[in-house]
Amino acid sequence: MRFGSPHHRYRLLDSTNLRARELAIEGAPDGTIVTASEQSAGRGRQGRQWSAPPGKALLYSAIARGLGLGDALLPLAVPLAVCEACEALAAVQCSIKWPNDIWIEERKLAGVLIEARPPAWAVVGIGINLSIAPEEFPLDLRRPAVSLGAEVAIDDLREALNDRLGVWLDAGDHQVLAEFHRRDALRDRTISWTDGSDPDPPDLTAIERSSADPPTGIARGVDSSGNLRVELDGGSMIALGAGEVHLQLDR
Ligand code: BTN
Repeated sequence: MRFGSPHHRYRLLDSTNLRARELAIEGAPDGTIVTASEQSAGRGRQGRQWSAPPGKALLYSAIARGLGLGDALLPLAVPLAVCEACEALAAVQCSIKWPNDIWIEERKLAGVLIEARPPAWAVVGIGINLSIAPEEFPLDLRRPAVSLGAEVAIDDLREALNDRLGVWLDAGDHQVLAEFHRRDALRDRTISWTDGSDPDPPDLTAIERSSADPPTGIARGVDSSGNLRVELDGGSMIALGAGEVHLQLDR
């Protein structure tokens, strides 16, 4: 199996991604993973924090080396692995909110933060809610996040993830795009977006939005570079890059 050995296991870390970055810079091999029971400074996308009660989420970072030109699709391949690992252990169906949030029934189950220095290495950080009770999630979320289920053993989930990451990080672009299409939670839905400069945008609903509305359009899948295709009023198409935007799904 490509991922899982060596395994650096910690009770408490600032961030498994930070530790994995250090290890990558020091020359740790492809397939190295870092896990922790608890993080004091867990990192989320776009400068956000990621927190979880101790022992109640899988906090996992993997080092991948040998990145090539096709790795524009790495952010899409990783959530496919997360979906399959979770579905192998619990009776759930996962979908993906582009680029790489994993949802069960439109509630966030897991998030992915990739930090890369291509072509030398990428750190693939994954947080999966395992047994976090609804009242333990932050109150300011518009829709509470969701957990996979306390009956799933964290070691089994880690092993399943090692297995599925190995498969999806070696998959061809066509396969990744086809499977992402099948799991795309945004496809044909109305979305709005703001640029990524505001690290903590208000969580607005369609009704609450004012005249200074962010742009809206209909999500039409992803292109071969992993950008989100959006149809604007009048039918013209644009492509949004994952680093550039905060997305809202209008309800
Ligand atoms: C997001 O949805 O914003 C991405 C969250 C990624 C969180 C994981 S937890 C393990 C790894 N270590 C970190 O500091 N972040 C990622």
